[in-house]
Amino acid sequence: MPLTYKNKKVLITGGLGFIGSNLAIALVKKGAKVTIMDNMLKRQGGNLFNIGPIKSQVKISFSDIRNPKAVKELIPEKDFIFHLAGQVNHVDSIRNPLKDLSINVLGTLVILEICRKINKDARIIFSGTRGQYGESVKLPVSEKHPMNPKGVYAITNLCAENLVMVYNDIHKIAAVALRITNTYGARHQMAHDEYGVLNWFIRKALDNKEIPVFGDGRILRDFLYVDDLVEAISLAGLTDKAYGEVFNVGSGKPISFIDLAKKIVHFAKSGSVQFTQFSKERKEIEPGDYYADISKIKKLVGWKPKTSLDAGIKKTIDYYRKHKKHYWKND
Ligand SMILES: NC(=O)c1ccc[n+]([C@@H]2O[C@H](COP(=O)([O-])OP(=O)(O)OC[C@H]3O[C@@H](n4cnc5c(N)ncnc54)[C@H](O)[C@@H]3O)[C@@H](O)[C@H]2O)c1
Repeated sequence: MPLTYKNKKVLITGGLGFIGSNLAIALVKKGAKVTIMDNMLKRQGGNLFNIGPIKSQVKISFSDIRNPKAVKELIPEKDFIFHLAGQVNHVDSIRNPLKDLSINVLGTLVILEICRKINKDARIIFSGTRGQYGESVKLPVSEKHPMNPKGVYAITNLCAENLVMVYNDIHKIAAVALRITNTYGARHQMAHDEYGVLNWFIRKALDNKEIPVFGDGRILRDFLYVDDLVEAISLAGLTDKAYGEVFNVGSGKPISFIDLAKKIVHFAKSGSVQFTQFSKERKEIEPGDYYADISKIKKLVGWKPKTSLDAGIKKTIDYYRKHKKHYWKND
């Protein structure tokens, strides 16, 4: 029988955050029964306003993925587990590597172990990062590219992905792993610049301030609009042959930081571009040019991005103009 989300029990860890909340809204629309697990980790994207449109249609557990008791209560009978909870702050991962390791690796292992013990039929969709590749030796970067992660966040994501795949292979807990590029759009935290660079550029432009572009601004990146990512995640979850596989998810189209900043100023009609030096912390973890080869996910899952960068930036600007007061915190 083909997979569907209609009436399926779904757990989204990190479901109050950026990607998790956008996914929760999409899956509720598809008829899924969604439970969110989120501990509202400080300085991350957890925000109850994110799930405003579906608040009465989801269950929320304000708990930590590292807490086996809490996880045990949520795993039984779940058909799909979208594992999006994580320590995602790259700068924080250097300041506090033990916390990063604990959330990203131990937290993932707690979920896997409880699945192994009480729900081996759950299907797991894991969200890793393009950062796992580290410095690109060949562009575009395919899934076969060597893994040379720079920084603790990239290493703990790679480790978590490996654990998920080992449980898929050994314990037959069906899992698909995604290596996600820089994603932007509605419902991202806008309080600080420690992760989510495109969204941060938008905040600076909307505040009519200078957008700080590091170095000469010529580093290339691949930016994906969140609705496209959500579609990739939900399609991958419904594709039987995707299980046991790892996929890049990106736009596949590079743009330099300087061109990106200029585009944002153009569409916001405010702000300006300012070159600045890399901080030591950022220089150390900067992997250089990246853009994804997305031919594998196109072929196996039948997904491709639909939103152009221009359209995505315009939609993102509109969202924050309208909902600024829910995101402009910690000024
Ligand atoms: N946004 C991107 O560009 C991007 C790119 C690559 C990978 N990812 C991955 O996608 C996932 C989601 O990222 P996001 O951008 O939505 O970040 P986010 O900060 O908006 O959301 C993460 C959510 O996880 C929750 N969380 C953190 N630790 C937790 C814990 N121990 N227990 C329960 N909940 C916890 C936070 O409270 C937050 O709501 C992360 O795993 C991240 O590594 C994101």
